[in-house]
Amino acid sequence: MSLIALLPGDGIGPEVVAEARRVLDALALDLTFEEAPVGGAAYLAQGQPLPPDTLALAKRADAILFGAVGDPQFDALERRLRPEAAILGLRRELGLYANLRPATLTPGLEDASPLKPDIARAIDMIIVRESNGDIYFGEKGHRTGLGGVREGFDLMKYDETEVARIAHVAFGIARRRKRKLCSIDKANVLETSQLWRDVVNEVSGDYDDVELTHMYVDNAAMQMVRNPGQFDVILTGNMFGDILSDEASMCVGSIGMLPSATLSSWRDTLGLYEPIHGSAPDIAGQGKANPCAAILSAAMMLRHSLNMMEAAMRIEGAVAQAIAGGARTPDLGGSLSTNAMGDAILAHL
Ligand code: NAI
Ligand code: MG
Repeated sequence: MSLIALLPGDGIGPEVVAEARRVLDALALDLTFEEAPVGGAAYLAQGQPLPPDTLALAKRADAILFGAVGDPQFDALERRLRPEAAILGLRRELGLYANLRPATLTPGLEDASPLKPDIARAIDMIIVRESNGDIYFGEKGHRTGLGGVREGFDLMKYDETEVARIAHVAFGIARRRKRKLCSIDKANVLETSQLWRDVVNEVSGDYDDVELTHMYVDNAAMQMVRNPGQFDVILTGNMFGDILSDEASMCVGSIGMLPSATLSSWRDTLGLYEPIHGSAPDIAGQGKANPCAAILSAAMMLRHSLNMMEAAMRIEGAVAQAIAGGARTPDLGGSLSTNAMGDAILAHL
């Protein structure tokens, strides 16, 4: 019996996690679920975004299924109390350093992509985003300097062990795919990126069978819409990966389609699984959210943390069949509610 920590969070988080839960229940797997508040929901209930009991559950669980956190009502809070501090805290406390974000076009979604159909159909990449360091975790602050001028700062920093460990993950994945790895940085202007590039080159010595290329992030943003089919495995830092994966999601139709897994150094099989999107306050509570990203995240959870390959494939197959059959939430140009989209997927399980 495996224990799943369910952390639905805020906004559309609970709406999409509920559909993922329905799909998992329908498969009658050997799973138990324990739910805990996180983000703004936890702040309202317990005065902090990542309460100790929630963190303890996450550490005890075999896997974590996470929705999203964040809501404009908390924007004025100090940073450590904001909902977003919960996901950063989980990543830090559990050593969740390797965020894997696959992006492929689900057949039938050509119309939802702004790219030409042939270009969109060629997309089959995985973004390996470092998620335990970089500018998100460096020293930060704000102050008022001389003459009352306000300043804010965030330190961008990586050390070589952090770069090497994520590079090994990316090379390992590339070995199981097309043996092509593109590392994305900004080494022409950033010291952090120069170290990144040096270390990735060093690690590549262990993977002679993988073809390594480097690209600057600004060019990568352009290539992502010009010819995304050129990418197979992308290796990049926390901030560049955050931005490029939202861009990739639109290329395959919607941010509501892309799942992610974040692997942990804290315990080998532990992982956190979440859609790449946020809490989408603009559509929360309206039944408009696309649950596919959350449902596909549950499939990644079964595959990576629980070794339930067949169940993972059944879920992915049901999502593909529902889409092929025309099931569409509003983000994909359709009119199905979150719940009705869940029904359409359940019908194909
Ligand atoms: P967002 O990803 O929540 O939304 C961006 C746009 O995509 C919105 O127009 C939204 O309606 C749409 N969208 C997102 N998910 C969708 C889905 N499943 N179906 C249909 N449409 C979808 O990003 P935004 O608006 O920048 O941030 C909102 C809040 O979420 C903020 O508080 C932010 O900090 C937080 N956030 C949390 C993340 C997490 O919990 N891991 C990740 C990203 C943002
Ligand atoms: Mg993001």
